[in-house]
Amino acid sequence: MKRIFFFAICAVALCACNNAKDEIPGLKDFIKDDFKIGVAVGPYTLQGEQAEMVKKHFNTMTAENAMKPASIIQPDGSYKWDDADKIVAFAQANGMKMRGHTLVWHGSTPRGYMNDAEGNPLTKEQVMAKHENYIKAVFEHYPKDVIFCWDVVNEALADTPGESIYRTRSPWYQAFDGPEFIEWAFRTARKYAPEGVELIYNDYNLVDPAKLERACTMLKDMLAKGVPIDGVGMQAHWDNSVTEEMIQTAIDRFSALGLDVQITELDLTCFNNYHGPGAAERQQVRQAVHYTKEMADAQAEEYAMIFRTLHKNADKISSVTFWCLTDRTSWLNNFTIRGRLDYPLLFDAQDQPKKAFFAVKDVFTKK
Ligand code: GLA
Repeated sequence: MKRIFFFAICAVALCACNNAKDEIPGLKDFIKDDFKIGVAVGPYTLQGEQAEMVKKHFNTMTAENAMKPASIIQPDGSYKWDDADKIVAFAQANGMKMRGHTLVWHGSTPRGYMNDAEGNPLTKEQVMAKHENYIKAVFEHYPKDVIFCWDVVNEALADTPGESIYRTRSPWYQAFDGPEFIEWAFRTARKYAPEGVELIYNDYNLVDPAKLERACTMLKDMLAKGVPIDGVGMQAHWDNSVTEEMIQTAIDRFSALGLDVQITELDLTCFNNYHGPGAAERQQVRQAVHYTKEMADAQAEEYAMIFRTLHKNADKISSVTFWCLTDRTSWLNNFTIRGRLDYPLLFDAQDQPKKAFFAVKDVFTKK
């Protein structure tokens, strides 16, 4: 009898849980007047329950990996579009738009891309010719009306101030013997992009005062030269050291340059995954930590602060994207510490809305 009672309670609890997921409103429905709201996905996300969640909550998507150069460009130089095409087809079938991510990034430059068959470094002119072919192929491949913007250059700035404000170890910086690859990439993208597609510079830690300064220096310089850059993507892989003032300052500085602001890879780690100076010393958690009530409460407050700030600045922000759908598939599991799970998103590993989801909803629905 006791056992039957126990199973009955479990069944009711499970039902209640499933209902939570099914009964909540879609993010896109209560955020609709402010900005586009998106999520990073792989073809694996677009199946079963998770596909339904994507359709319910979001009006845009970013391919988490499928549109990166190292995913498309094969070792023999041919292009393989299969995964990206699946995501584009899902977007088309469901009336969604996509952010294109990304065209030039040191982190997704295929192995050996800057060398010839004998392993000798290509000249700058050879790299330009090769990658212009790629950029042209990208814009010819995707249907014109699906991708509304592209992260043309990702993460070209240095984390620590040095002799240069740029990431000088990037193979792109080295092939061009300087930062001109950034200007070249934007001008080449403009040459082939369909009219109206926004061209974005995307980077992380842009709320860090020193990196923000470097970004503004670079962007101002490019705009003065007439480089066709339309907006800046603040990746927003944030932790609890990010304050409202830091977010506000970054939004103000970028929009004062006449640039559209997008939040492109939002997640909120429960740990300290700061990428800047002294990062190693700040990553002190060395073992799996469970998601406690305290962590859920703190995270809900932080998400509420973030969305209150974004809501207040809706006239300057055109799009906000979460980096992955649920805590189960977040890239932060195992980063920066192997074997450690993180809990950075609005939906938990069972696809259920977390306290943070309701905190975000309140920002938009509570008077
Ligand atoms: C960067 C890139 C993304 C993704 C994340 C981590 O922010 O822009 O494409 O790789 O790192 O997954």
